[in-house]
Amino acid sequence: MEPFLKGTKVNLRRVHRADAISIQKYANDPEVTRFLFTPYPYTLEHAYEFIKISHRMHRKKSGFPFGIEHKETREIIGLIGLYRVDTLHKNAEVGFWLGRDFWGQGITKEAVRLILKYAFEEIGFYRILARVMHPNKVSLYLLESLGFKCEGTMRKAIFKDGRWLDFIWFAMLKEEFLEFG
Ligand SMILES: CC(C)(COP(=O)(O)OP(=O)(O)OC[C@H]1O[C@@H](n2cnc3c(N)ncnc32)[C@H](O)[C@@H]1OP(=O)(O)O)[C@@H](O)C(=O)NCCC(=O)NCCS
Repeated sequence: MEPFLKGTKVNLRRVHRADAISIQKYANDPEVTRFLFTPYPYTLEHAYEFIKISHRMHRKKSGFPFGIEHKETREIIGLIGLYRVDTLHKNAEVGFWLGRDFWGQGITKEAVRLILKYAFEEIGFYRILARVMHPNKVSLYLLESLGFKCEGTMRKAIFKDGRWLDFIWFAMLKEEFLEFG
């Protein structure tokens, strides 16, 4: 059965072809893609490609991408996932974005909590990495408020929109998640 992670504001579920229009609508926003590797403009073709890759990842267990589903409308309003899976060392990286209309309501915080619980308790990962491009202050704050620890900065590691940006690494260990709640 496909995983379905139930929250109070949103659920996390796998995305399907029918979700491409919503994904494209919310991802095609320069404020959303500003600190992501996601391309801008973000076309419907990009969304279809993402959906195809996400099915392949789930099948091979090489990644666990989920749509963030609004509880009332059932629309996909953002994406979150576990990527760069290292099975040997039980490591993965979390990545996420949310449509701008929904910012500031605690939705991503809930989505990250849901996926961490799934990562540590269901899949059995031990360490979850999160990398943030400077100065993505909201993400820094969000990760710290969830108990992620900053592990250092890769100076000017990313060339984005004509500028070199620092890449800040955060991680959470299983015992920290269990402790932090
Ligand atoms: C980063 C992002 C996912 C945050 O989503 P969100 O749903 O608005 O975040 P939340 O509402 O869960 O807020 C998380 C925390 O940040 C705070 N916060 C949210 N927006 C903020 C803002 N503009 N300024 C300061 N703090 C802010 C919230 O108060 C909350 O903290 P709290 O629980 O202590 O109150 C969203 O802004 C986004 O999609 N940005 C573009 C993509 C991106 O940068 N992804 C992350 C890459 S690492």
